[in-house]
Amino acid sequence: MSTGNTGGYNKKSVADVDVKGKKVLLRCDFNVPVDKKTGEITDEGRIIAALPTINYLLEQGAAVIACSHFGRPKGEFKPEFSLAPVAKCLSKHLGKPVKMAADVIGPDATALAKELAPGEIMLIENTRFHAEEEKNDPAFAKKLADMADIFVSDAFGSVHRAHASTEGVSKYLPAVSGFLLKKELDNIGGAISAPKKPLVAILGGAKVSDKLGVINNLMKISDTIIIGGGMAYTFFKAQGGSIGKSLCEDSEFENVLKMLEEAKAKGVKLLLPVDSLAASEFSNEGEPLTVSSGAIPEGKMALDIGPEAIKAFTAEIAKAGTIVWNGPMGVFEFSKYAEGTRAVAIAVANSSAVSVIGGGDSAAAVRLFGLEDKITHISTGGGASLEFMEGKVLPGIACLLDA
Ligand code: 3PG
Repeated sequence: MSTGNTGGYNKKSVADVDVKGKKVLLRCDFNVPVDKKTGEITDEGRIIAALPTINYLLEQGAAVIACSHFGRPKGEFKPEFSLAPVAKCLSKHLGKPVKMAADVIGPDATALAKELAPGEIMLIENTRFHAEEEKNDPAFAKKLADMADIFVSDAFGSVHRAHASTEGVSKYLPAVSGFLLKKELDNIGGAISAPKKPLVAILGGAKVSDKLGVINNLMKISDTIIIGGGMAYTFFKAQGGSIGKSLCEDSEFENVLKMLEEAKAKGVKLLLPVDSLAASEFSNEGEPLTVSSGAIPEGKMALDIGPEAIKAFTAEIAKAGTIVWNGPMGVFEFSKYAEGTRAVAIAVANSSAVSVIGGGDSAAAVRLFGLEDKITHISTGGGASLEFMEGKVLPGIACLLDA
């Protein structure tokens, strides 16, 4: 079984190899959000998303040595970055014990791995407790690989990192994708390499500089590009508009003007929010003022798209065959400025199009509005999904065996 039409990747998956009686090093992305005060996991989504591959491996009679990074402990053992809470949560979902190693490649992990029987699972400590992880150090990667016979990568959220546990280990073990990684490739890859037309790309968020790559890549394949969020105001100012004290990156004027020209030349409909909701301060206090986006009064800042923009954006979304969305339309964390993102989320949810949402803020928004069941695919990757949509080579995928 190949991974099919997946944005240029055609990689072997775990279903293509015999894992019975084998030790499998399984890279997951267990970098889950936690409550800073209590240390409790606040969103188990990434752990739940890893279950199909883990259950499959255990049922097939593999011994699973799971690994992941967690936070940014910068090469030092720091108890607050321990994966022990993840082992507990994983064990709850699997209904069986998950043996937690006290180290990464040390005596405890290696002894546990050696004794691990088919159908059993263990978790080694945070791979970033060793600086060699992020340096993709070959000796460290080899020590990780030495614990196992096969490498399965299911850490979609980390495939944009060329680290020892995401890429380095593939030099020493046969490397294939897990089911989550395959699902991400099929869905995001499918949406951008074989979209049902028209393809409507919705891009938001604060900074246009973060989204230049993705806009440029999606420009090649989209019929419509909708731009909202803080980054829209750089477009207005670059064209001579007044934006008050709204977010703006003057250094990007040349790039955004080029983008507008390119859209025109290619016949891509590029929509900016005609109106906005503005405030005097970055806060949920006070009454939002509805203003024209290119004529925002001095001292005011846009915090959401306005009602006319909502009408135009949702009408375009309703016509889509495929929707790709990355980045919110406004400061949806403030109730008075959530309407733009909510209206777009509802339009995406109500559309019959294939809908793919990059991780991060837009995924969080869709969950906040309780619409996740109506979306074709919500990615578990933030930076990874963005880089995938940019068309970049993702080292954690490129290193896997070709189908
Ligand atoms: C993420 O949460 O986006 C991934 O786990 C990658 O984390 P990182 O940005 O610390 O590499």
